[in-house]
Amino acid sequence: MQNFDFHNPTRIIFGKDTIKRLSDEVPASARILILYGGCSAEKNGTLAEVRAALGSRVTQEFGGIEANPTFETLMRAVEQVRSQELDFLLAVGGGSVIDGTKFVAAAAGFDGDPWSILESIGANVSRALPIGTVLTLPATGSEMNNGSVITRRETQTKLVFMSPHVFPQFSILDPAKTFTLPPRQIANGLLDSFIHVVEQYLTYPADAMVQDRFAEGLLQTLIDIGPKVLAEPQDYTLRANMMWVATLTLNGLIGAGVPQDWATHLVGHELTARYGIDHARTLAIVLPSMLRLRKESKRDKLLQYAERVWGLTEGSEDERMDTAIDRTQAFFESLGVHTRLSDYGLSADSIDVLIEQLDRHGMTRLGEHGDVTLDVSRRVLEASL
Ligand code: NZQ
Ligand code: ZN
Repeated sequence: MQNFDFHNPTRIIFGKDTIKRLSDEVPASARILILYGGCSAEKNGTLAEVRAALGSRVTQEFGGIEANPTFETLMRAVEQVRSQELDFLLAVGGGSVIDGTKFVAAAAGFDGDPWSILESIGANVSRALPIGTVLTLPATGSEMNNGSVITRRETQTKLVFMSPHVFPQFSILDPAKTFTLPPRQIANGLLDSFIHVVEQYLTYPADAMVQDRFAEGLLQTLIDIGPKVLAEPQDYTLRANMMWVATLTLNGLIGAGVPQDWATHLVGHELTARYGIDHARTLAIVLPSMLRLRKESKRDKLLQYAERVWGLTEGSEDERMDTAIDRTQAFFESLGVHTRLSDYGLSADSIDVLIEQLDRHGMTRLGEHGDVTLDVSRRVLEASL
């Protein structure tokens, strides 16, 4: 196992009717900015509960954070925080709202060009405003991690930053708040969670026995509950399990002490930045070809995945690996998520554009071995057509 530090300071408050706990978590003297997305949190009553729980505290609001939050929109929130001297940020929404709030928290007191926070991957962040979240979409894990993904609309650049200063202080996870999610977002959440595990598990063996077993347990749970969550959209137990799985896939626990890949995510980000495809769908397009092309370097873990996650013990090694990848792709399709570029109206012409973007953003040596060059990414995309 590799050496690691593990520190996750986010308090999770989980379960039915937990939004009222905001009154215990947010200081009475806080000057709060509530940040949210489009109209979902207003429509389903989440914002009303949040406002009631905050009582007489000083609050302002910033709505309109879009899916795949943009620097341009968020800088307006930064201006509001600065001019109104607000000192506590409360995100109400999915990964986009939470990621956007993390950026606002880091940018509000930042000296210099805030875009450099993204360019330095967060290395130049030395402080941030405190953040709390009320999660309405289980998918990204952003509610319990220190990552954020922001898009600059002007240049179609989607970059990640990480900083220990942007861990939420607390996150409230009420599974009942997810009942209004459309099937498309539920499928996205299941896929994103699944692929977060794959990026941290399907690399090469690191003698990390419990991380492997946790990862396999999360994957098996997702395979088990995925179709049921879609078929029974008002089932609280299923929602509760999906919500907790999603958080556990990207809160640092399974990634501690193991090599990590993330090539699928980084290629996928270019698909979102350029063509606006939902984050999880880009992963569903890229992952199957990524695994097929890098089968040799992932051989040991692919065989372990085939046996422990899909129960494949018969046939040659190559057959087991191929079947495991085929089953993975079929699982994505069974949740209604298409897995080919052509399903999203893209043809071979788009590949040059995507490769140029990867190059421009420095994504030239990806993966756990740094061997996913532009040429490999090109072949992955060609195989995904
Ligand atoms: O804007 P509103 O009206 O709120 O609607 C949203 C949005 O249209 C809707 N929604 C959210 N909760 C709802 C709801 N609709 C009905 N009922 C509810 N309870 O869902 C739509 C999508 O929301 P969004 O927040 O964009 O989705 P998601 O949570 O999948 O977040 C995706 C973003 O997270 C980034 C992605 O790149 C993408 O920008 N990621 C962040 C990560 C992190 N911070 O660690 C890791 C991930 O790999 C990912 O890259
Ligand atoms: Zn993701």
